[in-house]
Amino acid sequence: MGVDEFYQFLISHTPTHTDNPVETIIEDFQVNSLPIKKFVNEFWTSRQRQSNSLHEISYRACFKAQLPNFFITKLTSPEDLVYDPFGGRGTTIIEANLRSRRGVSNDINPLSSILTKPRLAPPEIHEIADRLNKIEFDKTKSSDFDLSMFYHKDTEGEIVSLRHYLNSRSDEGISDTIDDWIRMVATNRLTGHSKGFFSVYTLPPNQATSQKNQHKINIRRKQLPEYRNIKELILRKSSSLLKGTSKEQRLKLKENAVYQRLCIEDARHVSQINDETVKLIVTSPPFLDIVNYKDDNWLRCWFNSIDLEEISKKLTVLSSLDKWIDFMQEVFLDLYRVTKIGGWVAFEVGEVRKGKIKLDEYIAPVGEKAGFNLFGIIINKQNFTKTSNIWGINNNEAGTNTNRIVVFYKE
Ligand SMILES: C[S@@+](CC[C@H](N)C(=O)[O-])C[C@H]1O[C@@H](n2cnc3c(N)ncnc32)[C@H](O)[C@@H]1O
Repeated sequence: MGVDEFYQFLISHTPTHTDNPVETIIEDFQVNSLPIKKFVNEFWTSRQRQSNSLHEISYRACFKAQLPNFFITKLTSPEDLVYDPFGGRGTTIIEANLRSRRGVSNDINPLSSILTKPRLAPPEIHEIADRLNKIEFDKTKSSDFDLSMFYHKDTEGEIVSLRHYLNSRSDEGISDTIDDWIRMVATNRLTGHSKGFFSVYTLPPNQATSQKNQHKINIRRKQLPEYRNIKELILRKSSSLLKGTSKEQRLKLKENAVYQRLCIEDARHVSQINDETVKLIVTSPPFLDIVNYKDDNWLRCWFNSIDLEEISKKLTVLSSLDKWIDFMQEVFLDLYRVTKIGGWVAFEVGEVRKGKIKLDEYIAPVGEKAGFNLFGIIINKQNFTKTSNIWGINNNEAGTNTNRIVVFYKE
């Protein structure tokens, strides 16, 4: 769609999957004399229209696949290049691959490509089962530090064996797509709060607590780690990830995967993307907030032999609004460089500090300064009624599925 067509689509949209369909609300306002339009409606829903099960890997602050799906299907055609500079679990590039677009995903955190790459070219379940059967799981092995608060000693032995197997395959340069898949699933299963994870009950899988805190959780819940068969759990999660794609689709994904690229660079300058090649950028940057990255990732980094100190230094965690804006200004210059004439940016940012700071309104002038034209702010608000006080709702506090996306285009 071009700019006028997209505008017409938004203003005439009536949701079909909701109990209370309403017309799009348009609000005109100004921020520092920059005119801004807001479009509010339920443009996509994460309830009825399920996304592909391949996306179901948890990641801190990930967006739902329906968000990139909306922009990819409206603003690009097959074979167009779609880019996410802050790729996370790879939601954008995986959705691009599923829709036969070409994708680039970048993230300074190497865990991002570990979680993304295998799902671009998923293996068959029997290949995963065969490979797991060949790995020697030695229950007597143990790690160099105390993991007994998370794992039964036999489970720990199996995890250490798998880590050793995967690391030696990659050191020898012989790991393949099946090893990468097993690494991705195991990384996702390390800790969590159900019996589907390797650990005893703990924080959700995108956060790992410290050994000390886990002790406290165990005492409070009067629990001891039970044995978990990691081979079975990896297979079970693999089946669930693969259930939404047919064999034909998986073959197609594999064919498309050769056009998909993963980068591990600072989003301010991603050297592997050529000038004016990207049709659409869909992304969600690190919000203005302090995320304790070290605490969240220590176990996943250990499992994948990633240097946590190194990563922590590179990751952008900005607590002041001025610094956040300066950082985003540099990012936008690179986004402008890579975007084609006629290309788009959909930049998802939320409200922070209990709704006091609306990052969407701050990012609008940043994109304009880099050279883009501001299209407007799309607010996807699920299941609200005409009488709801939509402007007063703080999406963080209310826990709704509201997304705020600042949209730009390049002429
Ligand atoms: C809000 S998350 C993106 C989540 C993603 N949309 C998804 O669905 O998983 C922001 C990401 O930015 C990455 N990041 C932080 N600083 C970065 C930088 N300077 N350059 C590139 N990526 C960075 C983090 O590792 C994190 O994965």
